[in-house]
Amino acid sequence: MSILIKNGHVIDPATKTDGIMDILIEEDRIAEIAKEIREEADKVLDAKGCYVMPGFIDLHVHLRDPGLEYKETVETGARAAARGGFTTILAMPNTKPVVDNGDVVRYVHNKAKTIGITNVLQIGAITRGQHGEQLADIDSMVDAGIPAVSEDGKSVMNAQLYREAMTLAVKYDIPVLAHCEDRNLAGSGVMNQDEKADELQLPGITNSVEDVIVARDILLAKETGARLHLCHCSTKDSVAMVAAAKAEGLPVSAEVCPHHFILTSGDIPGDDANYKMNPPLRSEEDRQALIQGLKDGTIDVIATDHAPHSREEKCLPMKKAPFGIVGLETAAALTYTELVEPGILTVTEMAEKMSCNPARVAGLDGGSLAVGRRADLVIFDPQKEYVIDAAEFASKGRSTPFHGRKVRGQVAATVYEGRLVYQRSAHSENR
Ligand code: DOR
Ligand code: ZN
Ligand code: ZN
Repeated sequence: MSILIKNGHVIDPATKTDGIMDILIEEDRIAEIAKEIREEADKVLDAKGCYVMPGFIDLHVHLRDPGLEYKETVETGARAAARGGFTTILAMPNTKPVVDNGDVVRYVHNKAKTIGITNVLQIGAITRGQHGEQLADIDSMVDAGIPAVSEDGKSVMNAQLYREAMTLAVKYDIPVLAHCEDRNLAGSGVMNQDEKADELQLPGITNSVEDVIVARDILLAKETGARLHLCHCSTKDSVAMVAAAKAEGLPVSAEVCPHHFILTSGDIPGDDANYKMNPPLRSEEDRQALIQGLKDGTIDVIATDHAPHSREEKCLPMKKAPFGIVGLETAAALTYTELVEPGILTVTEMAEKMSCNPARVAGLDGGSLAVGRRADLVIFDPQKEYVIDAAEFASKGRSTPFHGRKVRGQVAATVYEGRLVYQRSAHSENR
């Protein structure tokens, strides 16, 4: 099987490619990149007017499989990924059962391989059952191929246990992906603590809920030498602490999610759980700090925290609904519209934050279009304007504050392992 992609604007930060080129894919590899390739191929894709970038890599996805398949399965999550231009996704371990041993890791990996639509890498939990009491079976999970450990959904509140986990992560040379939330400070908060929360009479979550754990985790990483990646940073002080850690030369990296760099708590229209996620939407000052962090390189990665829940669950009032919104199918368009179009990031920087840097953080063989590499790539049409319609998502989750939002930039096709796993249908305007 061969695919020839013609006339695309190839952007590959890893090889510093930026120009109109053809790309020839043979089997699962990139065979050639050149100004004009005349070779015959089984399939020819015309990418004129589109960017061709390394497939996006999402370090932060919830697939809900095993155990919570009514919210999402490996298959629906993989389809959503392909539709969003992602060719590798890292799945968080807060499933049922929790991914805390090698058997559950293998279950997810085998399922994903059979489906074959996107590369799914299962992250291992830090503590058994995510109960925060004993370490999970990290040895067996490393054996089964986890790329990282994380307790996402919670913090490990016991700093001693967390430090032990970091020491193991050093031994296995894998990063620790940190969900920073002080459980006791968070209390029963459901949104940012501010005037909007007062107005809606909802319990708030202060910035300190995140900041104190970011500080703790950076200090523990410094002591142990662990590679620390801070998930979904949402506060200005998180950004400042990441900048300070980097200035000190610590192996700390950080991600932000589109909802945090686009929306603030002021955008919450009322008691609407489409705006409920953890960490919550913050203030304009925080949002500006995240944007500045993305611009100056303090923030390495854009990740989605794709967190699907059922319609019934997200129709509940804020106090009752679970935290989380979907993101795989909107991230690229939102990033392009909100960061690239206004000139905050270049399209090369978008490719860095959505592919190159995530690959580096997780030590993956991806994020590059170099000849000989696995043919994982996305064809992205920057001209296409449309309105986000959650009803069209491949994900089972439909909850997003971006439903009805006008965006520019659309994934036209996704190639994974040299196979066309998604192509926008010509018949539908929005698809
Ligand atoms: O909004 C969130 N949803 N934040 C988390 O930390 C967990 C996630 C989930 O699993 O639904
Ligand atoms: Zn989290
Ligand atoms: Zn998460």
